[in-house]
Amino acid sequence: ANSEKTVDERLLAICELLENHVEYYNWVGFYFRNGTKEELHLGPYVGAPTDHTVIPFGKGICGQVAVSNQNFVVPDVSAQDNYIACSITVKSEIVVPIFVNGENIGQIDIDSNTIDPFTEKDERFLEFVNKKVAQILS
Ligand code: SME
Repeated sequence: ANSEKTVDERLLAICELLENHVEYYNWVGFYFRNGTKEELHLGPYVGAPTDHTVIPFGKGICGQVAVSNQNFVVPDVSAQDNYIACSITVKSEIVVPIFVNGENIGQIDIDSNTIDPFTEKDERFLEFVNKKVAQILS
């Protein structure tokens, strides 16, 4: 039962579900703010291991979302200046913040090997997923 799982197990199950069921979701993971420090730490994820387990606020797509509190859809990562490459197969990315009591506490990050696959439907869907994540965390 869900109640027997830890928070990280439940978040990992969400990553697995998303990666398995949406063919253009190729890397799915969570980054969370680390207390009062202005940096993100990698949480549960599925996909290729990444060296970028700690990301300072402002750096890369993830770091920018930590500051902007806005969704960030990148149709083509090669067109971004402030981008941290995790894998050469990645063509596009979407990052959607997670809010708990109105506060941006982290984000879901999805990489795709397809160019320009993300639509507003992905944004609305991932906002919905993140509301469930917020419930799991609080
Ligand atoms: N591409 C991200 C870094 C995280 S990896 O995608 C897993 C960025 O630019 O912030």
